[in-house]
Amino acid sequence: MFPKTLIWNDENLAILDQRKIPWEVSYCICKNYSEVADAIEKLKIRGAPAIGIAAAYGVALAALEGVDKIIPAIERLSHTRPTAVNLFWSLKRMEVAFYASLEKDLPRALLNEAHLILDEDIRINRAIGEKGAEILPETCTILTHCNAGALATGGHGTALGIIRTAKEMKKSIRVFADETRPVLQGARLTVWELMQDGIDVTLICDSMAGSLMKEGKIDAVIVGADRVTSRGDVANKIGTYQLAILSQYHSIPFYVAAPVSSFDWSLASGDDIPIERREASEVLCLGGDTSLPDNYAVYNPAFDVTPSELISAIVTEKGLIMAPVSVNIDSFKKKL
Ligand code: MRU
Repeated sequence: MFPKTLIWNDENLAILDQRKIPWEVSYCICKNYSEVADAIEKLKIRGAPAIGIAAAYGVALAALEGVDKIIPAIERLSHTRPTAVNLFWSLKRMEVAFYASLEKDLPRALLNEAHLILDEDIRINRAIGEKGAEILPETCTILTHCNAGALATGGHGTALGIIRTAKEMKKSIRVFADETRPVLQGARLTVWELMQDGIDVTLICDSMAGSLMKEGKIDAVIVGADRVTSRGDVANKIGTYQLAILSQYHSIPFYVAAPVSSFDWSLASGDDIPIERREASEVLCLGGDTSLPDNYAVYNPAFDVTPSELISAIVTEKGLIMAPVSVNIDSFKKKL
């Protein structure tokens, strides 16, 4: 059975340690909110929805520590990773639940809210999966980037959720997974995750995508999202933007799978999205113990922004926003 991304064990949160996959499947036990924050920062848990869910449980753990720990926990957790808006969305929900709770048992109320966020996420991903799988042809080779799968969410996944559901619908699906330098979420996580489900997946280096497209090997690109602005620009893992440009050049549909919780209606455009910069060591490390000299200058933005003009459709649990996304997103928003 596919391992759960996170498991609540009465008074602690077990997080599947994604830094160790595929070599080892083990959980790291978080007994307080600081340990959850540390796990998010160190990428033991990653992926926009999963970060949000973990943070919600972090607040629930704080409530067990004492009512005075709740606001400091929200503050600490909100400073872990800046780009995925799901983190702030989920912390807001926990804060609202905190102030709204008339229950004597505040820890129970906050834990229930965290459980709800997790359960909702799995249902939402299934809905994204169904809506996205419907638009794929019966036989389809998909290119994906990073990991927007069960590991990045409460379960099923967003981009990989579409692939899973298409497989359940008996469509003939083949996947190419970009390795996704520097942290290799594609190589380590996506390939491993799809193999667990018996989905035909082949690993490629990031630099091979254009060549595969030119050879006619790719029918569609599907990626996840960390934040979607009110004009439909999308922040996702570094390397997504160049895939979108390559897709447009080769007339290949470029789909983004994202729950409504990934939309940040307060931002006018992708230029406003805060992009996380991570440490040089991620780029300098070439795998295992091999590392480049640490006096090399390194630039390491973890995300990039794809303008909505390059997106064929954003697939959400509430339906599709078809191109032109910057125009159709307004009527989508009104129906929410
Ligand atoms: O740095 P990461 O691994 O957290 O980045 C993850 C991604 O970019 C995913 O594509 C995105 O969060 C969507 S997950 C459903």
